[in-house]
Parts: sequence; C-alpha cells; structure tokens
Amino acid sequence: MFGLFKKSQPSEPQIDFSGIAVDLHSHMIPGVDDGAQTVEESVALVSAMKDLGFQKIITTPHIMADYYRNTRDTIERGLDILREELIRQNINMPVEAAAEYYLDESFDTKLQKGDLMTIGDGFLLFEISFVNFPTNMFETIERIKDKGLKPILAHPERYPYLTDSLDKYRQIKESGCYLQLNTISLTGYYGKGTQKAAEELVNNMLIDFIASDMHHLKHAGALKRSLNLPLVRTLLTDYQLQNTILL
Ligand SMILES: [Fe+2]
Repeated sequence: MFGLFKKSQPSEPQIDFSGIAVDLHSHMIPGVDDGAQTVEESVALVSAMKDLGFQKIITTPHIMADYYRNTRDTIERGLDILREELIRQNINMPVEAAAEYYLDESFDTKLQKGDLMTIGDGFLLFEISFVNFPTNMFETIERIKDKGLKPILAHPERYPYLTDSLDKYRQIKESGCYLQLNTISLTGYYGKGTQKAAEELVNNMLIDFIASDMHHLKHAGALKRSLNLPLVRTLLTDYQLQNTILL
C-alpha cells in the first residue's frame, strides 16, 4: 500500500538549472526591499538556489524613487552581511549585487550621473510601470545605450498592457533591449495572461535571459515545479539563452 502511494507522488525533476548556471534577477539582500527581510531568509533563498543547480547569483534589489531608495552603499553593506553569513554557515555560493532600476523620473538623473549597478559586462536591468507603457521608453533605451550600457527589460510578460502585443515586444527587442523572462511565469504563478505571454515570448525566440526574480521561498517552490514544464526544459536545453556569459 505504501509502495503504491509513493508511486503516485509527482516525480522529482530530472534536470536542474546548472546548464544556465547564473541567476541575474532576485531580491536576496536582507531588509532593503520587498525580498528577504532578514539574513536568515537571505541564506534560505541562496541555499534553495544552490539546490536547484545554480552556480552564481547576481542579486538585484529594487531602486525606486518612491519606495526603495537604495544606493550602491545600502546594497553593498547588505551584500557584505549576507556574504559573511554564507561563509559562517559554510555555504559555497558566489553572490554579487547589482540592481533592478524602476523607470521613474529619477532614473534619468541616475543615468546621467553614472555609477549605476550593472550586471556582468555592462548589462542594466530595469523594470517599468505595471499600469502604463512609459512614453519615454524608447528614448530611455537609447540613452542607456549611449552610455555604453546594455538594457535588459525585466519580466516583459508581466506588464498587462503588453501581453497581447507581440509586435510591441519585437519593437522593444529591435531597439536593442534584451528581454528577461521570469521562469515561474510559465507555471501560471502570476496568472493566465502572464503565462500566455511568457509562452509566446519563448515560442517566438524573443527571450535572452531567464531569472528567478526570487523574493521568498514560495518563488523557490514554483521554480522547482517549473522544471517539469516542457517549455522550461526547452529553454534549458535547446534555446539561445545568454545567462552563462555572466559566469
Ligand atoms: Fe524583481
């Protein structure tokens, strides 16, 4: 009886994320945004990523004028605390920090001043309003490129006003902006509309990077479940993802 019960359980995923190796979008610095609040939570998230096969984490706290006024200093201080705790607990995982910039009125000033927290060789992760397409979107992409940086739009599948518009996604990509999918969008974690847009973006070969956008352990659970999806398997085995250039 117990044997039969065991067999009916969902099987463990056969693959993990070691093929892409690097996660470039998450909220694991303790107490600086809506992600991990304590260093214990941060360590739990890092450990979950290690279990999923990741070899390096570039974590990206929000920088937003209204809500999260993080600076290089607040982020790097938090990173030091996290790194020290990882060493203390003997958890071997390289963790670096960059940021997820919100495209608000203060972003342009930050861009002009320079000293933005970038990923790898000059990639700049940014997010936009969940309500309206920013009127200055394409102008901002040009400005980022003019500074010698490479813009990455975080989770394009999550902006409701974009989800029915493959043309708009193509236009953003053709403007020289990279697209980063939240892997768990494919599980339906954020709802059906986001899931459908995520599937279309993957099927039309528009995705450059995938990432966890991990804030808490519920996201880790969804990420583990995502490994059972055929489209995630395709992304991990037969797709031109660029995550590994960040190793
Ligand atoms: Fe994020």
